[in-house]
Amino acid sequence: MKVVHQRSQCIGCGACANVCPKLFRMDSDGRASLVGIKRKNGAMAEKEVLVIKSVGCAQEAADVCPVQCIKLI
Ligand code: F3S
Repeated sequence: MKVVHQRSQCIGCGACANVCPKLFRMDSDGRASLVGIKRKNGAMAEKEVLVIKSVGCAQEAADVCPVQCIKLI
């Protein structure tokens, strides 16, 4: 399973990081980032993808996001 976070659509409400801090944290540009994502040259991606073994709190994060920029595939 993968968590896909479309950072370009994130409005920085912080709900994902509140319900699922294991996978999401608020970043210096005011948007959420997936925990454990490696950045190329320190640049923040428009879209992040993280492979997870089980859904855990990721579903809750996807459900609470007001702009639905978190998808599980
Ligand atoms: Fe952004 Fe949605 Fe989280 S707007 S801060 S990804 S809940």
